[in-house]
Amino acid sequence: MAPTGLWLIGARGSVATTAIAGLLALRSGVVRPVGCVSAQPAFERAPLPDWDEIRVGGHDVVDTPLEKRAEQLTESGLIPYRVFDTVRDRLSEVDSEVRPGYHPATHSGSQADAARAVSEDINAFARRHGLERVVVLNVSSTEPVFPSLAEHEGLAALEAAMAVPGRTVLPPSSVSAYAALRAGAAYVDFTPSPGIRLPALEELASRQAVPYAGSDGKTGETLVRSTLAPLFSSRSLAVRSWAGTNLLGGGDGLTLADAEHAGSKLASKGRGLSTLLGTEVTAPLHIDNVPDLGEQKIAWDHVSFEGFLGVRMSMQFTWSGYDSSLAAPLVLDLTRFTAAAHAAGRSGPLAPLAFFFKDPMGTDEHRLAQQFDMLTTWAESL
Ligand SMILES: NC(=O)c1ccc[n+]([C@@H]2O[C@H](COP(=O)([O-])OP(=O)(O)OC[C@H]3O[C@@H](n4cnc5c(N)ncnc54)[C@H](O)[C@@H]3O)[C@@H](O)[C@H]2O)c1
Repeated sequence: MAPTGLWLIGARGSVATTAIAGLLALRSGVVRPVGCVSAQPAFERAPLPDWDEIRVGGHDVVDTPLEKRAEQLTESGLIPYRVFDTVRDRLSEVDSEVRPGYHPATHSGSQADAARAVSEDINAFARRHGLERVVVLNVSSTEPVFPSLAEHEGLAALEAAMAVPGRTVLPPSSVSAYAALRAGAAYVDFTPSPGIRLPALEELASRQAVPYAGSDGKTGETLVRSTLAPLFSSRSLAVRSWAGTNLLGGGDGLTLADAEHAGSKLASKGRGLSTLLGTEVTAPLHIDNVPDLGEQKIAWDHVSFEGFLGVRMSMQFTWSGYDSSLAAPLVLDLTRFTAAAHAAGRSGPLAPLAFFFKDPMGTDEHRLAQQFDMLTTWAESL
């Protein structure tokens, strides 16, 4: 079978570096696929690409080599030294496939030119490796909320606006999504940025007959919430409020310390709870940057609920984890499932991948158990 390409937007970030190091470690057999959903026996019969059938490249706007990033993550406790030693040489090979990413601050010319250059990088990568297909997966920094424009509603108007030199009609994530679609690649958004979620880009995806999935990986607080919320609703316990606090360091912590960048993350984290509970509840949520935590993330939730005869009770949980360690295997799972969907001729939003996302496309199903059932049934049909 011809290999599958994984093109990472944000290829030198924490999640991407951990996913790449993990893929190389899995390929050489020095680690077990713990945390990889697609490696479960339930998916044994699905036609997923194997670890050694995935080639990686990508874009980033920083030039710190992958080996250096992996070394930093090793020192912070995220990657074991044994794994780093095994994969360090091959990290440099992958690094040679990382190209300078698009950013409006450093680009002169039109966004149409920028998108063409991104598409050409993806196509050239596919040619160099004789790839059958490419999955473009966004793990770049969360963007600030981008204003809605009339040009986002239809492809013709969008392309006309993109051709105007100096005009910024799309955020960088959507330029990459557009370029991916033009290159005939499938697209997955692991971030809450707009990416493909604009009618004009969905129109292009449908014309290109490619599948896409997103958005915002579900790896911590929201993962626990999507397991616990059905407990309250199925037992008819009335949730009165659900407050959450997130403490994080690392690159994501720094990005989300900015209120404008945090806006899209808070919106994507908040959306599922009311659907899960079937009603709006008071749900204050905030994110604090605590650099001292490094790559660790802590979520504290306090749930206040009412039982029989109006008795007031509460539940609290603390989730503490290494964010990128939770995210990286899902990046690999999403690559395998999306590539298999593309190979099977599926197109449009991949609702059965909702299991992986805080804000799934193509479905309103947020309950984790039901999402897992959807995933297993769908995988059998591939
Ligand atoms: N558990 C998780 O870690 C988790 C869960 C859900 C979503 N996410 C999302 O995944 C993304 C990555 O998280 P991270 O911890 O790796 O962050 P990070 O800051 O370590 O990495 C982001 C990378 O994106 C690069 N980048 C920024 N703008 C770019 C552009 N225009 N083009 C190409 N590259 C660009 C940065 O240089 C950086 O290397 C974030 O958006 C985060 O919200 C992470």
